[in-house]
Amino acid sequence: MKYLSVSEMSLKWGINERRIRALLKEKRIEGAKYEKHRYLIPENAPKPLDRRVKGQRLFEDSPLKEVNFDFKNYRKQFPTPDGYFGRYGGSFLPPHLEKAFEEIYDGYLTIAKSAKFIAELRQIRKHYQGRPTPIYHCQNLSNYLGKVQIYLKREDLNHGGAHKLNNAMGQALLAKYLGKKKLIAETGAGSHGSAVAMAAAYFGLECDIYMGEVDMEKQAPNVARIKVLGANVIPVKFGTKTLKEAVDAAFEAYSKEYKTAFYVLGSAVGPHPYPLIVRDFQDVIGVEAKQQFLEMTGELPDIVTACVGGGSNAIGMFEAFLEEPVNIVGVEALGTGEKLGENAATMTFGKEMVLHGFKSLVLQKEDGTPGDAYSIASGLDYPGVGPEHAFLREIGRVKYEAISDDEAAEAFFLLSRLEGIIPAIESSHALAYAIKCARSMKSGSILVNLSGRGDKDMDYMLKRYPHMFR
Ligand SMILES: Cc1ncc(COP(=O)(O)O)c(C=O)c1O
Repeated sequence: MKYLSVSEMSLKWGINERRIRALLKEKRIEGAKYEKHRYLIPENAPKPLDRRVKGQRLFEDSPLKEVNFDFKNYRKQFPTPDGYFGRYGGSFLPPHLEKAFEEIYDGYLTIAKSAKFIAELRQIRKHYQGRPTPIYHCQNLSNYLGKVQIYLKREDLNHGGAHKLNNAMGQALLAKYLGKKKLIAETGAGSHGSAVAMAAAYFGLECDIYMGEVDMEKQAPNVARIKVLGANVIPVKFGTKTLKEAVDAAFEAYSKEYKTAFYVLGSAVGPHPYPLIVRDFQDVIGVEAKQQFLEMTGELPDIVTACVGGGSNAIGMFEAFLEEPVNIVGVEALGTGEKLGENAATMTFGKEMVLHGFKSLVLQKEDGTPGDAYSIASGLDYPGVGPEHAFLREIGRVKYEAISDDEAAEAFFLLSRLEGIIPAIESSHALAYAIKCARSMKSGSILVNLSGRGDKDMDYMLKRYPHMFR
């Protein structure tokens, strides 16, 4: 009989190696043996079923319907120690930065997991950020739409007006413990830029924010905020002058200043360990939301949804619900159409490639170089997406849908007028998806992560939809 190693079986079955070792220890793989310090598994052993799996909602075409996947242990299995979520993620760095990233990863695993760090971050979240943010039942909007109940997780009420501060304070605290003097960051909508500027002011650090010129014009109120907070805004003038180029420029600056500066990445993207760090600092959203929703309604929502740019607010919201019987849907930007350059719908139109030091789905031109992204929402206007989202889509646990500029704008005005809450145009994409579902469902509940408030979008919305301001 032919035997295969754990890694060979992992490829064959599509099950993580760590999970196979756990199953071997529990003696759940027929005919397996342990010889010369390694496990050997018969080539034709039946794929083990995981008895602990029940509950989560898998979409129709999910390969997990056969594999049976353990979401209770998911966080411990993904990413792998070298930063992979399946075949996505990893770290593709210039050699001189490898040491700097090792320092960040080591710092994260040791300092950020210490009781002292956790206690300090909890204090900041409670007294500085004003967490927990509430859950709100949109009674007027729900009545207007029919019988489906729509709820919001109010990240717009987090200090600074968006979810970005959850991550910025965590990373800035780590930078302080690592003895860094400066924070460097990219920003699209300016929400992350202002969050990092706030963190820099709080911790007494210098701060450089890189922002595309197109976004500076679209999100002028946030540019002013960053400046008032004492940070430098460095305009990025090449390419599409939006988020992708801001990341290029910030990364370039960091690669010269890494000895004294910390790169505060704003989304669940970038080389390992950033997708892990950002997910962990943002998961407070979903942890709070799950408990609050249960307390408020006595059950879990039928659908949980969030907008996806790089994917930080979405991953923060989704993580706590992965193991639950809840449909999870990420919403990306369809912009003005399906052609390259008209949208930022990476999950729908992207192909696998390495961008900004990690492997994921990326919008591409025919020659295989990154394509231009576009969205009304500067924070969604990025040609790539976090590797964990690409993975969750591939395994069929999370579904990704695309919403156009005009659909998002409709949601923006509807929530403002019916509930007195002005959502960020990024968050309006998730809300628009919820509205679409509510119009077609007969009953049920939808929890939307309202990732930010829309004050920053006022000038641009006035220019683009003047008839709505009369
Ligand atoms: C309010 C708001 N929501 C969502 C996003 C999208 O980012 P992410 O996908 O990382 O949550 C941004 C980005 O700037 C934002 O400002």
